[in-house]
Amino acid sequence: MSESNPAIRGDSFAFQKASAFQIQRGEMPVLGVGIFGAGRVSGGHAQAAKSHPGLKLIGVVEPDEERRSRFTQRHECEGFASHRDMLERDDIDLILVGLPHWLHAPLSIDALNAGKHVMVEKPMACTLEECDAMIDAADRNGVRLMVGHTQQFFAVNRLFKGMIERGELGEIVLAHQTWFKPFGIESRPPWFLDREKGGGMWLMNGAHMVDLLVWLIQSRPVSVKGKVTNRIYQQKADDSTSAIIEFENGVYATIAHSGFKPTGAGHGEELSTELVGTEAVVKMLSYQNKGFRMVGGAYEPVEVPERSGIVEEVGAFVDAIQNDAPSPISNDHARIVMEALLAVEESSRTGREVRLD
Ligand SMILES: NC(=O)c1ccc[n+]([C@@H]2O[C@H](COP(=O)([O-])OP(=O)(O)OC[C@H]3O[C@@H](n4cnc5c(N)ncnc54)[C@H](O)[C@@H]3O)[C@@H](O)[C@H]2O)c1
Repeated sequence: MSESNPAIRGDSFAFQKASAFQIQRGEMPVLGVGIFGAGRVSGGHAQAAKSHPGLKLIGVVEPDEERRSRFTQRHECEGFASHRDMLERDDIDLILVGLPHWLHAPLSIDALNAGKHVMVEKPMACTLEECDAMIDAADRNGVRLMVGHTQQFFAVNRLFKGMIERGELGEIVLAHQTWFKPFGIESRPPWFLDREKGGGMWLMNGAHMVDLLVWLIQSRPVSVKGKVTNRIYQQKADDSTSAIIEFENGVYATIAHSGFKPTGAGHGEELSTELVGTEAVVKMLSYQNKGFRMVGGAYEPVEVPERSGIVEEVGAFVDAIQNDAPSPISNDHARIVMEALLAVEESSRTGREVRLD
């Protein structure tokens, strides 16, 4: 979740091996890349653009002058104060959007209307109407839109996804997710403390949690019940959520997520996902890149490939564009995640189960 996370920073195995990969790619056209936002996530976007042989990083849009200047120097690219100036450039084909959530839809739509491909960070937008307008803009302009659900590119998550697809867990029966992390209020930007601007832990991190569940369980949520609260920090945005999600294939999943108030040193964070199947019980720790399988009543570690994340995600999207293949993450999937996130908020407001079928 933070830039200190290697999967977000982009120093993964694909980055280190980029030059060998480059030689194999031959004559593929190179896409010019523009980045919207020079905040926490954008270092990972820059690394991805610089490490992929089919990409050339051209510039970044960032209204904050100091941040813009630091970014352009560090990544040796141009700086733009307004996204409209960048969108006039013919040498930019792909925009990587790392913006406050309330700006995802309007600025992505501007980019799509300018004929650029777009990878926008999660969550897709703030409302389903915005999601639909983004998908429509991509279709109308004949360009690609993909939402960056990075968890699908984390090595440990991919390992277990493969096991599920090969039937090694049998049928999945239930899932249980927890993620407790320090809220980090001292370093949070103002937009994050305001739900009107898409702020709060639920949209920020719930997007990862629900994405993982939908992807691993391979089914869509049909009912949710949840409570989204701000009892710890009492900001205009949430800090803690509990939810239960029923999936179309009969699986139930529980989610417990909190941005707690740290007391003392040594507070880590971890997104833990446990799956109970008819044949096996497993657990993945996304950020530690560790996996476990229950053997005789206790978890035993399984071997996990080297860490991966945002570099592989951008690479997979670019490969799909260049080979005219389907995007690795569909817009239907991203919209389903958004629908479930909003439904948990609605359930919290009304105190009722929200059905999605
Ligand atoms: N994939 C991941 O694991 C991961 C990790 C962190 C953040 N994210 C996502 O990345 C996105 C950005 O989050 P962040 O934490 O980097 O936010 P941030 O607040 O650190 O950065 C956003 C940047 O956008 C800039 N900005 C504001 N208005 C702009 C405009 N009109 N044009 C261009 N830039 C503008 C801000 O000045 C800021 O520098 C969010 O969608 C978040 O959920 C994803």
